[in-house]
Amino acid sequence: MLRFYRSTVGKKILMAVSGIIGIAFLILHMLGNLQIFQGPAKLNGYAAILHGPLAEVVLAQRVVLLVAVVVHVVMAWQLTMRARAARPVGYVERRSQAATLASRTMRIGGVLLLVFIPFHILHFTTGDIRPAGTFTPGNVYGNAVASFRIPWVAAFYVAAMIALGLHLYHGAWSSVRTLGIAGPRPHPLHRPAALVLALALWLGFTAVPVAIALGWVR
Ligand code: HEM
Repeated sequence: MLRFYRSTVGKKILMAVSGIIGIAFLILHMLGNLQIFQGPAKLNGYAAILHGPLAEVVLAQRVVLLVAVVVHVVMAWQLTMRARAARPVGYVERRSQAATLASRTMRIGGVLLLVFIPFHILHFTTGDIRPAGTFTPGNVYGNAVASFRIPWVAAFYVAAMIALGLHLYHGAWSSVRTLGIAGPRPHPLHRPAALVLALALWLGFTAVPVAIALGWVR
């Protein structure tokens, strides 16, 4: 176990598995959020089920997610330090063959998400950050509408979702490559499954602040 943990491949596997746990959560979270388009009763009813009969499942999910995020961040940090130590002097000339905007922005995008997640939890879960001045526990619909009517809040979420979409596009692809589920392909930039997943999550999450900011959901 210790040899696995200390090896670079072991750390990459831990990153991949913890990332996939995060993606699974995000798919459920996005599907939950989209119920906002079915009205306040539907969304708030769903939240009431999560905090009522399913409270223990949500608690278990929180523990798994917290461990996954900590592992993901610690492994990212350790792998970055290893890569830097292995090549203390940068390349004079660098011609990437299969790099994308998403792959080049993994570290900065990851840091942005690390700023977004605590803000988001203090905003919607605990209500400690109240851009609209009000927060009603259980009224997820009302809290979202009041917040995303404020342009900077909607803009902040839309920007964070761009970082999320890029991070997911590269992460979804690289995690299955690391785990050996998908082998090398003749066209390394042809990644339809990762593209569909990242686009679906990006669109699904972005739809909520945009629809509220534009007054379609009120
Ligand atoms: C526009 C996009 C998003 C909206 C509108 C949104 C909305 C919400 C709301 C309303 C809650 C509180 C639910 C409740 O307490 O009943 C929540 C919780 C949460 N969200 Fe989001 N979310 C978005 C994107 C994200 C993203 C991208 C992530 C992760 C990268 C994320 C992670 C979380 C977490 C970890 C919680 C706490 C879950 C818990 O209490 O166990 N959210 N979100």
